[in-house]
Amino acid sequence: SQPVLIAPSILAADFARLGDEVRDVVDAGADWIHLDVMDGHFVPNISFGPAVIKALRPYTKAVFDCHLMIAPADNFLPAFADAGCDIITVHAEAGPHLHRSLQSIRALGKKAGVSLNPATPLSAIEHVLDDLDLILIMSVNPGFGGQKYIPSATDKIAKTRALIGNRPIDLEVDGGITPETAPLATKAGANVLVAGSAIYKGRGVDDYRKTVDTLRQAAEG
Ligand code: DX5
Ligand code: ZN
Repeated sequence: SQPVLIAPSILAADFARLGDEVRDVVDAGADWIHLDVMDGHFVPNISFGPAVIKALRPYTKAVFDCHLMIAPADNFLPAFADAGCDIITVHAEAGPHLHRSLQSIRALGKKAGVSLNPATPLSAIEHVLDDLDLILIMSVNPGFGGQKYIPSATDKIAKTRALIGNRPIDLEVDGGITPETAPLATKAGANVLVAGSAIYKGRGVDDYRKTVDTLRQAAEG
């Protein structure tokens, strides 16, 4: 069983106490903080932007893994870099110039990620593999937490792992990850799991220690 990184999505946290929620989940053993940014245009929901991320930055040293569900994304990349994001992921569907977006992220000194919606074929990224640090496979249609894992994601994860080959690219899965679905994703080759509702159920560091541990054990087998 290979080690898996657990990235709680604060979309499922208490928005009135986000700083504490970030600190508590890291104290409970989480590896990264997953930040879901939604614009009400690329996805049918609005969440938060760079000002909120910047305010959260002092609460932890953990990697800030920023998932931009916004279109177009390019004009906002400097603001998310400045806010303290370590990884900035754009959607392949969010604009016509994915290669330029990835280069812009790396030029800002950040790790560059690309995300694919469930219906988007892997071929969308085959020509940018050397410009990437992370691939985020959506296992739900983005926009909301608490949805069900789409079964076809498992085969897509396996094909993505094969496409990556020996490149140093993280393979992350997002949506409907629970102790039941986590092993499907990791056996197919994912090494980073996003989870919102499965981790932020209950409240406080003691609850989060249980949900993080349970997910990690399920994922690592
Ligand atoms: C969906 C977001 C996910 C979401 C995951 O648009 O990208 O990160 O918060 O939530 P759960 O784990 O509840 O499916
Ligand atoms: Zn996400």
